[in-house]
Amino acid sequence: MTPLEEILRDLIRREGPIPFRRFMELALYHPEHGYYRRGRDPFGRAGDYFTAEQLQPVYGFLMAAGIEALWKALGEPADFAVVELGAGRAEMAPAFARWRYVPVEFGRASLPDSIVGVVFANEFFDALPVEQAVRRGGGWRLMRVDWNGARFVWIEGEPVGSVLEAYLERFHPSAEEGAIAEVHLEGLAWLERVARRLRRGFLVVVDYGYTVRELARYPGGTLMSYRRHRASEDVLAEPGERDITALVPFYVLEEHGAACGLRTLRLERLARFLLAAAEGAGLESFLREADEGERLRRRLQLKTLLVGFGESFRVLVQARSEREGAQ
Ligand SMILES: C[S@@+](CC[C@H](N)C(=O)[O-])C[C@H]1O[C@@H](n2cnc3c(N)ncnc32)[C@H](O)[C@@H]1O
Repeated sequence: MTPLEEILRDLIRREGPIPFRRFMELALYHPEHGYYRRGRDPFGRAGDYFTAEQLQPVYGFLMAAGIEALWKALGEPADFAVVELGAGRAEMAPAFARWRYVPVEFGRASLPDSIVGVVFANEFFDALPVEQAVRRGGGWRLMRVDWNGARFVWIEGEPVGSVLEAYLERFHPSAEEGAIAEVHLEGLAWLERVARRLRRGFLVVVDYGYTVRELARYPGGTLMSYRRHRASEDVLAEPGERDITALVPFYVLEEHGAACGLRTLRLERLARFLLAAAEGAGLESFLREADEGERLRRRLQLKTLLVGFGESFRVLVQARSEREGAQ
């Protein structure tokens, strides 16, 4: 039994079945035993999964070129900063070193009060704890996690409260009986936080996710767990030992962003964003400048970025103007 299994089991014994958001929050972010807090490196070959950020230096080169275009669009301000939400190992630091780089992460920096520049979030929103609900009799019921004596199990709880109900009616209006949906209140809170602090500039979100038209593909919800490069739909097993993610509903970020002053400029596949960024950025000479082994490595990274990550990831760019920011 993992230390977190014990903690969660005792919590459920004391309080009864807990909402999934609480389970995910503790599984990932318990200060001592949470997946992202226990000092073990989850990234890379020896870890549980790769992100695009591990494909350095090519991802850094291309993303920095994309951000350079945003810096120019803003009039090349001298106080331009790149604030990265959930920076992990801060792998983008060398690529973003030409600007002030602020890696927001537990035990590192927190979100600055006033930002001119880009708030960058790579696989951040998909790691935020979500609530889960099931459509029943025209309403929604909260999904809770119970302990059955041997393992954690899902149970259908009470009807959701008014905040979750409003979210679900707004973003899942046509859900059918039995459909499962996630509620991204934490994601909305981060959007609001960014909108308040971003004086002038852009929010750039890179993540796995879906549009409103793709919503129907996920009647069972989108939760997944990852361990040692294997994906599983069982997100309740081995808490603290596995990553847990929920696909990002880009249309929710767009709609809620618009309501708090973040206007969508682009939502596109990562490959398209990176190819546009590469134009005029000197990619060919960057690929050629290294020795032979490194040249091959860079070409393979480019291929993985364009064909693998590039097809499954999207980039959402939202703008915050000074006028909209003045509240
Ligand atoms: C999936 S990882 C992505 C890391 C990195 N951006 C990458 O793409 O390799 C999500 C990161 O977000 C961080 N994170 C989640 N919630 C956070 C919060 N409230 N404050 C700071 N960091 C947070 C986690 O600790 C974790 O490092």
